[in-house]
Amino acid sequence: MISGCKTFGVLLFVTVTFGSALNAQQAQTGRDLILQLGCNTCHGGLEAAGQAIIRERAPDLSQAGRIYEPGYLLDYLQSPKPVRSNIGASRMPDFGFSEAEALAVTLFLQQQTAVESQGTPAAPVTLSDAERKRLEKQFERARKAHPNVNAELGRAIVRAQNCMACHRIDGVAPWPRSMAPDLAQVAERRPEPWLRAYLKQPHAVRPFGFFPGSGSRMPDFRLTDEEVEHLMTYFKHLSRAAASKVAEPAPLSPFAMKKARALLRDKLSCLGCHRLGERGGRIGPDLSSLAARITPGYLQQIVRDPQQAMPGTIMPKIRMFPVHEKTADLIIRFLWQQREPQQPQSYFSLVDFPPVLPEGGSRAERLYKTYCAICHGVSGNGDGYNARFLPKTPVVFASTGYMATRPDDTLFDGIFSGGYILNKSPMMPPWGETLSVEDMRKLVQYLRRLCQCQGPAWSRDGRR
Ligand code: HEC
Ligand code: HEC
Ligand code: HEC
Ligand code: HEC
Repeated sequence: MISGCKTFGVLLFVTVTFGSALNAQQAQTGRDLILQLGCNTCHGGLEAAGQAIIRERAPDLSQAGRIYEPGYLLDYLQSPKPVRSNIGASRMPDFGFSEAEALAVTLFLQQQTAVESQGTPAAPVTLSDAERKRLEKQFERARKAHPNVNAELGRAIVRAQNCMACHRIDGVAPWPRSMAPDLAQVAERRPEPWLRAYLKQPHAVRPFGFFPGSGSRMPDFRLTDEEVEHLMTYFKHLSRAAASKVAEPAPLSPFAMKKARALLRDKLSCLGCHRLGERGGRIGPDLSSLAARITPGYLQQIVRDPQQAMPGTIMPKIRMFPVHEKTADLIIRFLWQQREPQQPQSYFSLVDFPPVLPEGGSRAERLYKTYCAICHGVSGNGDGYNARFLPKTPVVFASTGYMATRPDDTLFDGIFSGGYILNKSPMMPPWGETLSVEDMRKLVQYLRRLCQCQGPAWSRDGRR
C-alpha cells in the first residue's frame, strides 16, 4: 500500500517535471524567436540584451542610396519579401505603407550614401531588364502622383517606425525609450484568442501610434502558425505565474446604462480620446466591443490607474464624480457591455498627418508634444490630428486675442481639472492626477509662448 503510493508519487513527479520541461523548452524557442525577429527593439517589458542579433542581420541602410534603385525600394517597402537566406528567422516586417508613404521613405533612403558598411552590407538584388524598367516606371509614376512627398517626410516616417532599431541609418537619432506597448504582461491583458489572431495578422489598435501622434505601427512579420504558438507560450511564461482571476463586470440595468452614457457624453473626457460606436476621438483604442480585446482584470486596472497598467501611456488618471469609486465601477461595467462592432481598424496616413514625436528642446515642449498637440496642434492652432473628431474645436493657443483674456490661473485650472469643471467642452481631459504641479506650470508658460502674449494685467499684479 505504502510503496504503491510512493510509486504513484514518483510517477506524478516525473510527468509534472517532464511537462514543464517541455513548456520551458517551448518558451525558450519563443524567446529565441523574439531576439531573432527583434521584437525587443521596439517593445518594453522584454529583455533588452540580444538586440545585437537583429542589428547584425538587417542590412546597413546608410548605403541604401548608392546600392538600391529607387524603384526597387519603393516596391520592396510596400511588399517586403525574404532576400537573404542566411539570417535564420530574422526578416523584414511589413509596415503596410501606402505608395505615398513608401515614396517618402525611398526619397529619404536615396540620401543615405555612406561608403563603408558596418555589419551586414546592403547588397543589390539582380533584376532582369524588364523588371528594372517596370520598377523605374513605377517610381516615375509615383513621383508624379505625389508631388508634395519629400525626403524630409521620409525621415520623419523612418524615425516614427523605428527602422533604425534594426538597420544602421545615418542622421536619425534612436528613440530615447521604447515606443511600443510593454509586452511583459500582454498575456494577462489580452484574451488568448485575440492575442493569437493579432500576432497572426496585426491591425491598428492605437490608431496613430503608441505615443499618439507619433504614427508608430505594429508591422506584420507574416508569422507562421508554429511561430505564433511559440510566442504565445513565451508570453504566458513571462506573465505573473498565477494571475488572479478577476470576475467579469456584472451587467447594468437599462437605467444605469443610460446614466453611464450620459456621463460619457456630458462630463467625462473619455470620448475625447476614444471611439465608441460612431463617435469619439482616435487617440486611444476603439472601445466598441471592448470585451473581445481585454481581460476583466486589465480593464479594472487601466481605468483606475493607467500609468501603472501601461507604463508610458498618455492616458490620464481621471478622478470621476460625483463619487469616484462608484462612477468608475459604473463606467467599467458599461464598457464591458458594449457590443457595437468596431469600425475597420487601419492606421492614419503618415502623409496626411505627418508624425509628431514626443520630443523637443525643453521639457515643456516635450510635455506639450506628448499630451496636448494631438488635439491643440503642434503650433497651437487647434488642429491636432484628433481635433476633427471632437464636437468642439480645442482652444486655439496661437490666438493672442483670446489668450490675452485668460489669466494664468485659469489656464492652470483648465489643465488640472479638465473642461467640464471650467464650463468648457468636457472632451478636454483633466491632467491633475497625472502631471506634476511643476509640469502643469511649465505647460502654462509654454501656452504663453504659443500665443506670444500674457494674461490680463489685473491677473499679473505680482501675485505669483
Ligand atoms: C518597429 C517596432 C515594432 C516591432 C519590431 C514590433 N512591434 Fe509589436 N507593436 C509595435 C507598436 C507601435 C504597437 C502598437 C500598435 C497599435 O496599438 O496599433 C505594437 C503592438 C503589439 C502588440 C499588441 C499589444 C497590445 O496589448 O495591444 C503585440 C502583441 C505585439 N506588438 C507583439 C510584437 C511581437 C511578437 C513582435 C516581434 C515579432 C513585435 N511586436 C515587434 C511596434 C513594434
Ligand atoms: C525588426 C527589424 C526590422 C525593422 C524594424 C525594419 N527592418 Fe528592414 N529589414 C530587416 C531585415 C532582417 C532585413 C533583411 C531581410 C532579408 O534579407 O530577407 C531588412 C531589409 C530591409 C531592406 C533591404 C532589402 C534588400 O533587398 O536588401 C530595406 C530597404 C529595409 N529593410 C528598409 C526598412 C525600413 C525603411 C524600415 C522602417 C520603416 C525597416 N526596414 C524596418 C529588419 C527590419
Ligand atoms: C488623453 C486621452 C485619453 C483619455 C482622456 C482617456 N484615455 Fe483611455 N486610453 C488612452 C490611450 C492612449 C490608451 C492606450 C494605452 C496603451 O497604450 O495601452 C488608452 C487605453 C484605454 C483602455 C484600454 C484599451 C485596450 O484595448 O487596451 C481603456 C479600457 C480605456 N482607455 C478607457 C478609458 C476611460 C473609461 C476613460 C475615461 C474615464 C479614458 N480611457 C480616458 C487615452 C485616453
Ligand atoms: C482630447 C483632446 C484634448 C487634449 C488631449 C487636450 N486638450 Fe485642452 N482642450 C480641448 C478642448 C476640446 C477644449 C475646450 C474647448 C472649448 O470648450 O472651447 C480644451 C481646452 C483647454 C484649455 C482651456 C482654455 C481656456 O479657455 O481657459 C486649456 C488651458 C487646455 N485645453 C490646455 C491643454 C493642455 C496643456 C493639454 C495637454 C496637457 C491639453 N489641453 C490636452 C481638447 C484637448
